[in-house]
This record gives sequence, C-alpha cells and structure tokens, in this order.
Amino acid sequence: MAKEKTLDDLFLDTLKDIYYAERKISKALPKMERAAQSPDLKAAFAKHREETEMQIERLQQVFEILGKPARGKTCDAIEGIIAEGEEIMDEFKGTPALDAGLISAAQAVEHYEITRYGTLKRWATVLGMNDAAKLLDQTLQEESKTDGDLTKLADSQANEMAKAA
Ligand SMILES: [Fe+2]
Ligand SMILES: [Fe+2]
Repeated sequence: MAKEKTLDDLFLDTLKDIYYAERKISKALPKMERAAQSPDLKAAFAKHREETEMQIERLQQVFEILGKPARGKTCDAIEGIIAEGEEIMDEFKGTPALDAGLISAAQAVEHYEITRYGTLKRWATVLGMNDAAKLLDQTLQEESKTDGDLTKLADSQANEMAKAA
C-alpha cells in the first residue's frame, strides 16, 4: 500500500510551490517595472517587488516553523503565467495598449498567489499552526491589496489609454 499522505504533506508541497513562485515573481517584477510606461504603474511594480522580498522571508519563517529546509518545487502554473506576461511585453512593446496588458498579466499573478495563500492559511489553521496562519494571512492581504491597486490603475488610466483614438 502507498504511504499514507495527509494534510501535512499537502501543506508542505503547496508551500514549496508558492516559494518557487515568489522567487520567480521577484525576478519578473523588475522587468515589468522597466517595461511599464506610466510612472504610477512603475511605482506599483517597484512597491510590490519590495513586498515580495518580505513575502519570501515570511515563507522562510513558515518553513522554519515546520522544521523543514526552505526549498522550492517547480510551479508550472507560474511559469506559464509569467511566460504569457513576457509575450505581452514583446508583442505590445511601444503601443498604447502595453500598460493595460502588463496590468492584466500582473493580476493573473496576484490571483494565482491569492488562491495559494488562501488555501495555505486555511490549512495552517486546521493543522493548529496559528503563527504560520498569521504570516500567510499577512501576505494574502498584501496580494489582495496589490490586485485592488492594479484594478484602480487600469480603471483610472491604462484601459482608456489603450483604446483606439
Ligand atoms: Fe507574492
Ligand atoms: Fe503578489
């Protein structure tokens, strides 16, 4: 019979997934910052890059709580989402639609993170790891706030600018 796997195994697996994803994201954000046309969007990406560094540290703290080494596990989902963002950067470079496209790509990243952190936070609570749940919730709130800020930027400038004159 296969070794019995439990919620602890799922939790550790998913933690490794988001750890890999966050490190990928921290490398992608400076590229998006450079590509963005509007100063406000550049600033939003710069701010989230700094937050992402902190989020990586929080994940390392969660690994520590578990007594496991901080190790990532290749996340195909984030690879795909980031590859699509790079496609937008290439294909819409120098066009009025670039910022709207960058925002849509960044929001796909945020939504992926929100689903991961939402799940991890609940599992941490069920597993009685309240300190870990608190750390995961802090990051979850940052991701949600970032998503909301991006929507505001899309509404206030990028989508209008992207429309044909
Ligand atoms: Fe993040
Ligand atoms: Fe994020």
